[in-house]
Amino acid sequence: MIDILDRVRNKALQSKIVSAEEAAAYFKPGMNVAASGFTASGYPKAVPVALAERMKKDPFTINLWTGASTGPELDDVLAKVHGIKKRLPYQTNKLLRTEINEGLVDYLDLHLSESAQLSRCGYLGHADVALVEACAITEEGNLIPTTSLGNTASYVQSADKVIVEINVTQPLELEGMHDVYIPMDPPNRQPIPIVKADDRIGTPYIPCTPDKILYIVPCDVPDKTRALAAIDENSKKMSEITLDFLKKEIKAGRMPENLLPLQSGVGNVANAVIEGFVDSDLKDLTVYTEVIQDGMLDLIDAGKLNFASGTAFSPSPEGMERFYKDIAKYKKYLLIRPEEVSNSPEVVHRLGVIAMNTAIEVDIYGNVNSTHITGTKMMNGIGGSGDFARNSYLTIFYTPSIAKDGKISAVVPFCSHIDHTEHDIDIIISEQGIADLRGKAPRDRAMEIINNCAHPDYRPMLLDYFNRANELTGHAHTPHLLKEALSFHERFVETGSMK
Ligand code: COA
Repeated sequence: MIDILDRVRNKALQSKIVSAEEAAAYFKPGMNVAASGFTASGYPKAVPVALAERMKKDPFTINLWTGASTGPELDDVLAKVHGIKKRLPYQTNKLLRTEINEGLVDYLDLHLSESAQLSRCGYLGHADVALVEACAITEEGNLIPTTSLGNTASYVQSADKVIVEINVTQPLELEGMHDVYIPMDPPNRQPIPIVKADDRIGTPYIPCTPDKILYIVPCDVPDKTRALAAIDENSKKMSEITLDFLKKEIKAGRMPENLLPLQSGVGNVANAVIEGFVDSDLKDLTVYTEVIQDGMLDLIDAGKLNFASGTAFSPSPEGMERFYKDIAKYKKYLLIRPEEVSNSPEVVHRLGVIAMNTAIEVDIYGNVNSTHITGTKMMNGIGGSGDFARNSYLTIFYTPSIAKDGKISAVVPFCSHIDHTEHDIDIIISEQGIADLRGKAPRDRAMEIINNCAHPDYRPMLLDYFNRANELTGHAHTPHLLKEALSFHERFVETGSMK
């Protein structure tokens, strides 16, 4: 067995070390399993694989709660054996997506800032067991987390029992990179005392007691973070437009020279935008975000980043290697918090974050669909985009103007599903240009979005729709031809339907 004795600092707890198979035998049908993990970082890997093996022989399902998406040794292995009945609060696994869209898995797509509170207050049922990856266990029984925090601290607090995987591939130098703070629930809640991205308000460990720990399982499987695709032309253009716009904001006196804390979403557009900052003359930047990706390491190396706070450290495999090699240096710049704090509406609002997230489609009035393909099929989920979109100082959404080789326009008359309303959106950027919606009434917003962001192939169609709607409704506040607007997607259903 892998030697973890030096990582289990409470000697009495060493008697609880068992194999993954022994721990997997504890799970029963219908259990609510609250796991660590946010992106493919810091999720349990040994016990879920053993559990999936058990389910292969003796099929049953559990309900899986996590921080957000996880890696293949959790979502993928359990989806393969149809072992998940309910899943929350966010996921990105392809197989699970299919099961969700075939009605086999009940998916609760939640605002990430709220998911811990929902679990603590019992709205999701009771957490039977917390399954948690850790670097080490302290003498007091507290857990030193690894590359993410997500909802882990709240899950450990409210679950009946805790199973800890000690992952020896996670360096002990991670200790000290976390700031664990669990807010009190109403009516006893206090303000979260963060006024700067680098403020520390909690403990460097997840509070736990030895009696709560049921099993300790050794694990030597590393995080399977995702490789980044090469930056494409569209993303590069969107990055250039962003920088140009932000520089104008500085010039207009609406932002300081070093901007305001940046939040950047998941995926390649987000990464391209951050890479754009690396090559710019901006400096002394701060980041208050959810996921810390490769671009942040590049900003540190370029001497442009003062500090980055997030809930998961989730670079590409190369980025992870780079981080592990020089952990002492990067540690000074990075902090990992619970997602309830990294995405806290209160803190995001106070810091005046610049939120940069990606849409599936936008409509001509500025509503945004982040989750549903042609209105019905779940893609990933809202994740933290709603937390940041609603509460930031400046809310930017990105989308390429077309999808599926131009067969689909990402600018539509009326979004087929709305995650972020027109009231929350300040700026929309496509590779075609930028729509600045601030201070504009709906009809002006429509002109700005159609003329600046829609693809030239779809512009005449959208203008025609807007003009007819405007005429026929007598210049109503938000002109629509509802029947026509909703049928706009019908011709996309074939091409846009998910494999
Ligand atoms: N109609 C139909 N299909 C569309 C589409 C549209 N308007 N826009 C995109 N798609 C399809 C793409 O073709 C692609 O399909 P494929 O997987 O078959 O190739 C798929 O949707 C994903 O599109 P892609 O351009 O690769 O997306 P991405 O990696 O940039 O991610 C989101 C975009 C919106 C799916 C992703 O950012 C997301 O899940 N966001 C919500 C959560 C979030 O914002 N989290 C961060 C908050 S902190």
